[in-house]
Amino acid sequence: MTDLIQQLPKAELHVHLEGTFEPEHIYQMAQRNSIDLGYESPQAIVEAYDFHDLPSFLSFYYAAMNALQTEQDFYDLTYAYFEKVAAENVVYVEPFFDPQGHTSRGVAFDTVIRGIHRAQLDAEKQLGVQSNLIMCFLRDMSADSALEHLQMALPYKDWIIGVGLDSDEKDNPPSKFAEVFERARAAGFKLTMHCDVNQKDIVEHMHETLDLIAVDRIDHGINSLDDPALIHKIKSLGLGLTVCPVSNHFVVQSYTTSEIRAMLKHGLKVTINSDDPAYFGAYLNDNFRALVNEAAFSSAEIATLVKNAFEVSWLSDAEKTSYL
Ligand code: ADE
Ligand code: ZN
Repeated sequence: MTDLIQQLPKAELHVHLEGTFEPEHIYQMAQRNSIDLGYESPQAIVEAYDFHDLPSFLSFYYAAMNALQTEQDFYDLTYAYFEKVAAENVVYVEPFFDPQGHTSRGVAFDTVIRGIHRAQLDAEKQLGVQSNLIMCFLRDMSADSALEHLQMALPYKDWIIGVGLDSDEKDNPPSKFAEVFERARAAGFKLTMHCDVNQKDIVEHMHETLDLIAVDRIDHGINSLDDPALIHKIKSLGLGLTVCPVSNHFVVQSYTTSEIRAMLKHGLKVTINSDDPAYFGAYLNDNFRALVNEAAFSSAEIATLVKNAFEVSWLSDAEKTSYL
């Protein structure tokens, strides 16, 4: 089974580039930029990790971003992720980035996106990993800030396939960003949003995501199982759900294998993803292995999950055909 997971060409649709920041790289980049993060070694960074819910994770995630300063830093972060997953036979990725995590501390939008884009071009040429970038808005910042960043992204429209919504979901419903997402759709971006596992008001958030925002995909979305009307809507729209088993383990102490199976049984287009692999200690293949280890997922189930990711990706139909 481990061989099958390694050998299948795979796509990843839910990975935060800033969540691929390995402790060694955090440490090295902080040193080369003379930033004091308060850690004496990469090991000290790992020892400080203590994630038990979304906010406890996010505070580490944002603190480490301070080490990222130059275009080359964003290039190195991104290229290192592609190298890691190329070795896992990942051939296509739609990674997220969080520009507000950088502009809010004085790093220019251009610096961030130019570094990421250059790494994407090199990864395609040198590693054979194709990718299309998704820009996320931080839902715990204002809608005005999101609108400003949408404006900043317009000159780079050709480098960004879609927009998403991440960060702390508590009391930050999709409706807060209805106008931003409306404008993003009008500008030609695809739309997705996090519906993180077991968040406060999650069922309402999921209905808003579908009815008010009319997303093209849902990130996480495990709680669709809480309401038959949600299952029905998501299924009839054929929307993909980007589930992240190891990430879920940090919140609900389970890889959510029974939920993933139930979603498959309902005919939902579930995909498997890593979310923040450097922090959660599991890139894509380890997320698939978690399903096999916790609940003996079969080769057929694994193959379906892999195929779903290409099907609900935002590749053109012609490009999808080349992978499927
Ligand atoms: N930003 C980075 N990782 C995230 C996650 N798992 N949930 C919400 N926002 C995030
Ligand atoms: Zn995520």
